[in-house]
Amino acid sequence: MFGLEGKKAIVTGGRRGLGRGMAYGLHKAGAEVVLIDISNEVEKTKQEFTASQAKVHALTGDLSNREDRHRLFQDAVKLLGGELDILVNAAGINDKGPSVEYPIESWNRTFEINVTAVFEFCKFAGGMMAKQGSGKIINICSLTSFIGHINGTAYSASKGAVAQMTKSLSNEWARYGVQVNAIAPGCMETEMTKSLSNEKERFSELTSRIPAGRWGTPEDLEGIVVFLSSQASNYITGTIIPVDGGYLAR
Ligand SMILES: NC(=O)c1ccc[n+]([C@@H]2O[C@H](COP(=O)([O-])OP(=O)(O)OC[C@H]3O[C@@H](n4cnc5c(N)ncnc54)[C@H](O)[C@@H]3O)[C@@H](O)[C@H]2O)c1
Repeated sequence: MFGLEGKKAIVTGGRRGLGRGMAYGLHKAGAEVVLIDISNEVEKTKQEFTASQAKVHALTGDLSNREDRHRLFQDAVKLLGGELDILVNAAGINDKGPSVEYPIESWNRTFEINVTAVFEFCKFAGGMMAKQGSGKIINICSLTSFIGHINGTAYSASKGAVAQMTKSLSNEWARYGVQVNAIAPGCMETEMTKSLSNEKERFSELTSRIPAGRWGTPEDLEGIVVFLSSQASNYITGTIIPVDGGYLAR
């Protein structure tokens, strides 16, 4: 029920962090994966995927660029032999700053990567999946899809948009056998949050609010992404599942 042998997947932001962790989970479950990232280091990540016989590919490009997005999606599907079963939209940026001084360029870039690229990939994948009558799309939300951020208005607004996009697309494509869900990771140890460990007060405030008593890791997302990619979740769509050690329940 949870096996993904023979399934074909695209994971954006697959070079490191949560995207890498989720892609690795899919790889272990037997899916063929295309890792997409802006950094060439994605090639190195690809070499590290040796947990199963399933093929792994890597593509480099900038998801904030419209032409790159079209090329990346087409090339990924080509590498997968014209088929696609799973799309995980994990690439994202968190460009923080006080709202009064926040540059509009940063706002636009945040939305281009965190929202518009996610929509375009959903759109490309959803069209293919609706035709074939099956498919799994998994977007990455955040605690800030539910609660506000401090000095992170662009990021939280973008993640709120991803939550609403996920629900709307699920309504549109459920009848075609395509499930669209999102994972909302809590406080996770990645490069994106590394600088927070230097903000001692904020770091301990956040940590003390996590009932599990620890920050999450990319490995903590392996189970949920496999579940949402597998037959086991065929009647689940339009949900946003927090993986947060209980943060939102407190
Ligand atoms: N770390 C957390 O606590 C946390 C919590 C909730 C949600 N998230 C979300 O999870 C996702 C992954 O975050 P992470 O913590 O692993 O961050 P990360 O910075 O470690 O990884 C993000 C990846 O996306 C890639 N990327 C960024 N911009 C890109 C672009 N324009 N084109 C292509 N690739 C690009 C980066 O190169 C990187 O490999 C993001 O959507 C983030 O918003 C993270």
